[in-house]
Amino acid sequence: MTQDELKQAVARAAIDYVVEGEIIGVGTGSTANFFIDELAKIKDSIKGTVASSEATAARLRGHGIPVFDLNEVDSIAVYIDGADEITDEGAMIKGGGAALTREKIVASVSKQFVCIADGSKLVPTLGNFPLPVEVIPMARAAVIRQLAALGGQPRLRTKPDSTDAFITDNGGEIIDVAGLAIADPVALETQINGIVGVIAVGLFAQRGANVCLLGTADGVKTLAF
Ligand code: 5RP
Repeated sequence: MTQDELKQAVARAAIDYVVEGEIIGVGTGSTANFFIDELAKIKDSIKGTVASSEATAARLRGHGIPVFDLNEVDSIAVYIDGADEITDEGAMIKGGGAALTREKIVASVSKQFVCIADGSKLVPTLGNFPLPVEVIPMARAAVIRQLAALGGQPRLRTKPDSTDAFITDNGGEIIDVAGLAIADPVALETQINGIVGVIAVGLFAQRGANVCLLGTADGVKTLAF
């Protein structure tokens, strides 16, 4: 099976976690896009969605699926999203698609986090994938110095084929930190969140996944944490 077929399989399996008549939180990225396409088939059974990025909101609306502003919503039954890495304890690195801050916000008000990922995302230790950190642009250099002091190699994310900084939906910039072997994801999340100028770090450990649907050659495996 190709990686896309594995992503499609977990996106399909995630439909079982959609709660009828409720608001569903929807993540960002290629796996989340497959999920949106599956959700479109049952769109009349849900009240609507909250999107974790402008791109996701556009894809949902393109399918005629209602998208609510989070401020209009009291609670979200389930949040369904991909990950760049996930451990067998449900801690994740996210933000490869630059949507980490909104993903974290939507996840924080969701009763359940269902991670959908192809098998390559399951790792023994987080950190092989460079850790994304969203920052206020004026704090970029100061935050980079502090991230370097943690032992990583921070690098400003740029627009494709350009040296200009990539700008997020929130007007922030992304620093990708390579070379971290993250032994204690909860502690590192707290530490990086404490750096002045950081908007959010792409470590999802304090609020990790409750369930991971993992696409493998032997079918979709369910990991519960
Ligand atoms: C976006 C994310 C994505 O969930 C993550 O990058 C995985 O993406 P994909 O499903 O394309 O592999 O965190 O900010």
